[in-house]
Amino acid sequence: NKYDFGLVGLGVMGRNFILNVADNGFTAYGNDLDKEKVEALKQEGGDTAKVDASTDAKTFVAALKTPRKIMLLVPAGKIVDNVIESLLPLLDKGDIIIDGGNSFFTDTDRREAYLKEKGINFFGAGVSGGAKGARKGPSIMPGGSQDAYQHVKPIFEAVSAKYNNEPCVAYLGPKSAGNYVKMVHNGIEYGLMQLTSEIYDLLKKAGNLTNEELHHTYAKWNSGRLQSFLVEITSEIFAKKDTETDGDLVDKILDKAKQKGTGKWTSQNAMDLGIPVPTIDIAVSMREISALKAERTKADELYDRPNPEEVMKKALIEKAENALYFAFIMAYAQGMHQLADASKEYGYNLNLGEIAKIWRAGCIIRAGLLADITEAFQANPELQNLLLAPSFVEKVKGSVKATRELVAYGATNGIPLPGLSNSLTYFDAYTSERLPLNLIQAQRDFFGSHTYERVDKDGIFHTEWEA
Ligand code: 6PG
Repeated sequence: NKYDFGLVGLGVMGRNFILNVADNGFTAYGNDLDKEKVEALKQEGGDTAKVDASTDAKTFVAALKTPRKIMLLVPAGKIVDNVIESLLPLLDKGDIIIDGGNSFFTDTDRREAYLKEKGINFFGAGVSGGAKGARKGPSIMPGGSQDAYQHVKPIFEAVSAKYNNEPCVAYLGPKSAGNYVKMVHNGIEYGLMQLTSEIYDLLKKAGNLTNEELHHTYAKWNSGRLQSFLVEITSEIFAKKDTETDGDLVDKILDKAKQKGTGKWTSQNAMDLGIPVPTIDIAVSMREISALKAERTKADELYDRPNPEEVMKKALIEKAENALYFAFIMAYAQGMHQLADASKEYGYNLNLGEIAKIWRAGCIIRAGLLADITEAFQANPELQNLLLAPSFVEKVKGSVKATRELVAYGATNGIPLPGLSNSLTYFDAYTSERLPLNLIQAQRDFFGSHTYERVDKDGIFHTEWEA
């Protein structure tokens, strides 16, 4: 009896994903070079007729039903190519390889083209939701051949998270569409994380909120319009005690944030496309600034900062809720805008409503807001920017005033709120009919004869600026 689904890479994500497949009535076979990981899966899987595993690639491939559906959950980069090369001689035409890691989208395009020549279907499928998501239901973002997807679809739909019984997976588009969408998902993730952390800083410094109060504040927000996975876990983080001291764990954690690159790729590619994503950009920059701990420590001694003027807790918390809501909208708006443009540039033919829909559960950026975003894009699939959606105008108008007040407060009191202020600046610039960039055009023409256009007639103009 052959198995329905194969998975290479039995780390936490892989093991959890394969057990999830088995829970949903499919038989699955795992492969990893590490004997211990293979044994651990067999132990946990229990019945080898349902879940089995081997360290040997040949045994693994031979155990699978054709067309074989083989998912790779291995670290992005060279390892993916190595695994593909080791499987290739063992595969038959029509077999399907699915890369479930955070691979860079151009790597996926290269692999897809290479494998197509050999008659193998290759999918880049972003999987979001961490270890728990993989086990209980992730959001899955697959891209590749639509025909081949039909073979994978029943399994992915069964294992994915559900939102109102709808699976959080959909065929997103050809080639690297799936990895691209996952990359932008992660860019938004970086933005939301930066925003939740700077609001924490503000509440602590301006309102003197204790960790317990922060725990309750984020928990309360999570039961309102800010409902989201990241706000929920933030609330839980504030309640966690340190096991080594009698303090709270959050205070013992070094303030240097690491990154594996997906947020940075989002920013870099947005620059390539010419799409502004400043909330995401600053989130990447803040991780970089955070990493300069030794320099920051020296600089801290050289410069004074104002002592934050204390603010009434209740009013502060209310404003912070508004500002976080406002800035969350800006982060999603920027990410969706990037997806809309990338869709044209790379021929993905993305359905933004469908993407927002499969982000409503399972993934790290899942949030109540995504139901509204889904509706906005379903109402107008050609929507260029969420800020242009009629259903978002009141939401934004109602939350911008508090954002302005807090950004001003942060600037006066020396509390860095870069995600909030970039979000606000993005909003103010995007919603301005006239920007001062006419002056930049004049300067360019002045020193480099770069020409300019006029507001009152068509054509390209140049002026001899110096008499
Ligand atoms: C997800 C996450 C995940 C990502 C981590 C770490 O959707 O489950 O995006 O794929 O790898 O969040 O990312 P950084 O190390 O770059 O913060």
